[in-house]
Amino acid sequence: MKTLVIYYSRKGENYFNGSLKIIEKGNTCRVAEFIRDAVGADLFEVETVKEYSKSYMTCIEEAKAELKAGARPELKKYLDDICGYDNIVVAGPCWWGTYPMAVITQLEKLDFTGKKVFPVMTHEGSGLSGAPGALKKYCRGAEVGEGLAIHGADASESPPEVEARALKNLK
Ligand SMILES: Cc1cc2nc3c(=O)[nH]c(=O)nc-3n(C[C@H](O)[C@H](O)[C@H](O)COP(=O)(O)O)c2cc1C
Repeated sequence: MKTLVIYYSRKGENYFNGSLKIIEKGNTCRVAEFIRDAVGADLFEVETVKEYSKSYMTCIEEAKAELKAGARPELKKYLDDICGYDNIVVAGPCWWGTYPMAVITQLEKLDFTGKKVFPVMTHEGSGLSGAPGALKKYCRGAEVGEGLAIHGADASESPPEVEARALKNLK
């Protein structure tokens, strides 16, 4: 079984258990790398042309406006073929209850017929929230498998949980 992890993750100022902290590597990026290590997956990072603000509070507003507008932010590079993969993990931070709109920009470009997709979301309390529903809506032709929610502030301590779930679902 060949697995691809499509993920978005934001560096900069973020909220950790009630206080603001600047991070060099995003929480979802850590989790995506743990999945890669557990099952030998490939990674594809969704990166926007226009960067979101490094300030948490400003980014919150930018993300809210994009969600309201149904925006599809332009990406630095696009993945146009997933035919070499059986399983696709779609990992992202919870932004206002769902994936950042940039993830949707990428998903809409792909044909998921015959693929199995797995929602993974890092969050500060909302859990998986809209992730499974978003994959049902935007991953054309896919079967949606079991999701995994990781508390963002604990992302660096998540390997045992990520490994157990990744090995169970993706091998
Ligand atoms: C724009 C924005 C919106 C967010 N909205 C939510 C939310 O609705 N629910 C939640 O639990 N966490 C929310 N968070 C917290 C992030 O989901 C959490 O910190 C996540 O682990 C960040 O992942 P990253 O470092 O990979 O970007 C939000 C963070 C940002 C920046």
